[in-house]
Amino acid sequence: MTFPKGFLWGGAIAANQTEGAYLKDGKGLTTVDLLPTGEKRWDIMLGNLPSFQPLEGEFYPSHEAIDFYHRYKEDIALFAEMGFKALRVSVSWTRIFPNGDDHQPNEAGLRFYDDLFDELLKNNIEPVVTIAHFDVPVHLVETYGSWRNRKLVSLFETYATTLFKRYKDKVKYWMTFNEINMLLHLPFVGAGLVFKESDNKKQIQYQAAHHQLVASALAVKACHEISPDAKIGCMLAAGMTYPYTCNPEDVWDAMDKDRESFFFIDVQSRGKYPGYAKRFFKDNNLMINMEDGDEELLKSHTVDYIGFSYYASRATSTDPEINNMTAGNVFGSIENPYLEKSEWGWTIDPKGFRITANQLYDRYQKPLFVVENGLGAVDQLSSDGEVNDDYRIEYLKKHVKEMSEAIKDGVEIIGYTSWGPIDIVSASSGEMKKRYGYIYVDKENDGQGTLTRYKKKSFDWYKKVIETNGEVL
Ligand code: BG6
Repeated sequence: MTFPKGFLWGGAIAANQTEGAYLKDGKGLTTVDLLPTGEKRWDIMLGNLPSFQPLEGEFYPSHEAIDFYHRYKEDIALFAEMGFKALRVSVSWTRIFPNGDDHQPNEAGLRFYDDLFDELLKNNIEPVVTIAHFDVPVHLVETYGSWRNRKLVSLFETYATTLFKRYKDKVKYWMTFNEINMLLHLPFVGAGLVFKESDNKKQIQYQAAHHQLVASALAVKACHEISPDAKIGCMLAAGMTYPYTCNPEDVWDAMDKDRESFFFIDVQSRGKYPGYAKRFFKDNNLMINMEDGDEELLKSHTVDYIGFSYYASRATSTDPEINNMTAGNVFGSIENPYLEKSEWGWTIDPKGFRITANQLYDRYQKPLFVVENGLGAVDQLSSDGEVNDDYRIEYLKKHVKEMSEAIKDGVEIIGYTSWGPIDIVSASSGEMKKRYGYIYVDKENDGQGTLTRYKKKSFDWYKKVIETNGEVL
């Protein structure tokens, strides 16, 4: 048997893409609540925010999402039917601290997650909890400039500590920041950063990164103190960058691009800023303000495991003639002529999954947790309520196969939670039609639909995978 006993098969979702109920029971406004679908979305994600309130005439998909807030019992029953061992969720910061700097947490918000975790545990599903999945309280953005301000470090520490104390008997797996490297690509999404024309964006981004890294180390410290049996990890948007040719210039460029992401995990896992980052700061005239004791904190409180998402590999070239770009989990990439793409242009590369897992394990020598993987595709619901998503089964089958190869290579992997086991709002596009689920949700891009859930063909496929611990694909 390839997959270890107790392997955490399951799925992963995030509060803002799933829960809806966006101002219910005292919840405050969070950054994602200001992301509409359509043209304005991308610009805002890059840090050009027109207003600290939702705009008239725009449609905001997070406000209702798939109404998981009210329907989680029904959804968890379906996950349990598939045999899930784990469900990765995130806590919405503004359900707990509606403004982010409140003196007391919001009891109704805390109670919601108590009930959610209880329901999971009742169904023998381990909650795997991300503390910050692409959301920052809007009040903190408006008042302090979000993560550019050191103030966020202690506010996050308070938030994280509140969670550890409250849920120490329910949650054994935590992660600090979802796809922490996304801060460099979508600064509003990753860190609530909003820019002025005159801002030195790189400087602000790396200062914000330092603040998140210190906050992450403080969360690791608090978690270990409050809940010694729990494990706390980091979370990287992974996917190896291939050099387009064997020209050493391309090889260096690929290494450099990967290091842009590894930088974060090098700090979180190895406990110090790597030499290449120091050189990068120097070459780019970036000055990172550190306080006394920061280096010691980073050194002493490293993560227990490496959580990562894998959707696609990337390719890079230094030849200006080779410039046909394609999308891929936000990171642009040169099109790889050997590989196919999804309908959204994300490269499909199962072997790249094995390569990436090996690369991460070689580098960090800590257990890996695959906390996102999957195919976003357009599904057709037939009149009798069926969805034949063979393409999704095909994608997942090949990826799980490569994950099993990685395990045979000696890579330690503790679990696999595929992305969006139930259809949810897409983070990058805000669409509903970019579906990842084993469960179809009747809802369209414009918000129309009954929200009824339907099992897709992949539902039974994944159930079998879990039942046989990955032996039957
Ligand atoms: C990851 C995020 O980047 O990819 C998720 O952690 C996101 O929040 C997922 O949903 C898939 O991306 P998208 O844009 O297809 O939803």
